[in-house]
Amino acid sequence: MTEMTVGAVDKQALALRFGHAAQHYDRYARFQQDVGQHLLSLIPDGKHEVVLDLGCGTGFFLQSLQPLSEQLLALDLASGMLHQARQRHEQALFLCGDAEQLPLAAASLDVVFSSLAIQWCHSYTDLLAELYRVIRPGGYLVFATLCQGSLDELRRAWACLDSFDHVNYFVPEPQLRTWSEQQGFRCVHWESRKHGLQYQNLRDLLMGLKGIGASQVSGVRQGGLGGRERLRRLECAYEQQRDLSGFLPLSYEVCYGVLVR
Ligand SMILES: C[S@@+](CC[C@H](N)C(=O)[O-])C[C@H]1O[C@@H](n2cnc3c(N)ncnc32)[C@H](O)[C@@H]1O
Repeated sequence: MTEMTVGAVDKQALALRFGHAAQHYDRYARFQQDVGQHLLSLIPDGKHEVVLDLGCGTGFFLQSLQPLSEQLLALDLASGMLHQARQRHEQALFLCGDAEQLPLAAASLDVVFSSLAIQWCHSYTDLLAELYRVIRPGGYLVFATLCQGSLDELRRAWACLDSFDHVNYFVPEPQLRTWSEQQGFRCVHWESRKHGLQYQNLRDLLMGLKGIGASQVSGVRQGGLGGRERLRRLECAYEQQRDLSGFLPLSYEVCYGVLVR
């Protein structure tokens, strides 16, 4: 398979969007917190020298990462997110930067921890090459990312209205593993979990996505939500998927990996 990741995400716009979401992000981020907590449990035991939280967002996991590391770095594309993170945990060293072009020396990290951030990168193969460069031999990449199957209910609802891409593309999980191993990482843990969220109505569901800054779609943005009538039609389409317990479902397929460099 040729690489087909999120392609043309405009990183400047992405950083602004996440930056704007930063102040209220934690209120909407229950799912992200659950994923990150599980990911923390996968970090190999012991104290590690230099640990990076890649795409640290509001820094929710920094306090838990601190005792595992001699030196803790926290990097994010969005300065607004870093501002929140700094207020929460000032002991870390904060860096504003791009995961695909890290402002870090080769072999300078012992552990890269990254929860639900790398799905926003342009190219997984470029990202994995960059991470392979900065992680020291024997160091770890511990990540959680979204894979194919995520947000499918929303994708299906939109497909009833038009043929534009309203929901990001997510890679198939086996493909991600192949790319990781092709890059030279050795896999010590690999797991895929479906997380099902439930909402009372479409408004809450869309607010939930907007609240964490995740409403941006990759590629050329075509036919956004666009007015009341479209929203009403989307609502009708989504209603077809209301589940037996009376909620609108939204699924996330999360891939958790622990790789050794
Ligand atoms: C869904 S939030 C997750 C934040 C945090 N890890 C958590 O789980 O709460 C995604 C974060 O990744 C950051 N991000 C997206 N693309 C990035 C990139 N190319 N480099 C660094 N950070 C990035 C965003 O700015 C945002 O803070």
